Amino acid sequence: MELLLSEEEIQKRVKDLALEISKDYKGVSPVLIGILRGSFVFLSDLIRHLTILPEIDFMSVSSYNTLTKSSGVVRILKDLERDIGGENVIVVEDIVDTGLTLTYISRLLMARLPRSLKICALLDKRERREVDIQIDYVGFVIPNKFVIGYGLDLAEKYRNLPYVATLEESEIGEPEENTP
Ligand code: IMP
Ligand code: MG
Repeated sequence: MELLLSEEEIQKRVKDLALEISKDYKGVSPVLIGILRGSFVFLSDLIRHLTILPEIDFMSVSSYNTLTKSSGVVRILKDLERDIGGENVIVVEDIVDTGLTLTYISRLLMARLPRSLKICALLDKRERREVDIQIDYVGFVIPNKFVIGYGLDLAEKYRNLPYVATLEESEIGEPEENTP
């Protein structure tokens, strides 16, 4: 395990992002949609630095993933509680990797006719992108390594770390690779 982003770096960047969003949405009450579970740490820090009054809702999706790869097929496990028709929506995600999950979610939300829809992601693993997707607010562009901490997990563990660290292949233990 190797430290990639320290707690201090993350906190500073999250505060800056919040100020940028507050400026862009001055006089508007956006609806922030946290994609569970990975985004909950980021979202909760982000909203505490906003100088506007957002509403918060959550959506839980499961992508049919192997341990570390996304398939882009997404199933809604928990839908929004509220209608977003006519609202200014900001989707808050922990990390954009291939971009498949967010592409799917954006399409689904656009069909509900929000007034606007923007995307805010803490981490952008740009090298791995398979579909072109615009991310309006990016915390950090990171190298193509598997990361954990600050909400991000490996098999549901490590979400509680206050920093982001990279894991080596040998520490991940992808099941396929263990199969003879
Ligand atoms: P995408 O559909 O490939 O963009 O995958 C996005 C989702 O995969 C994220 O919401 C994460 O849940 C997960 N993911 C992608 N990369 C990582 C990583 O490095 N660590 C932990 N989860 C990841
Ligand atoms: Mg996620």
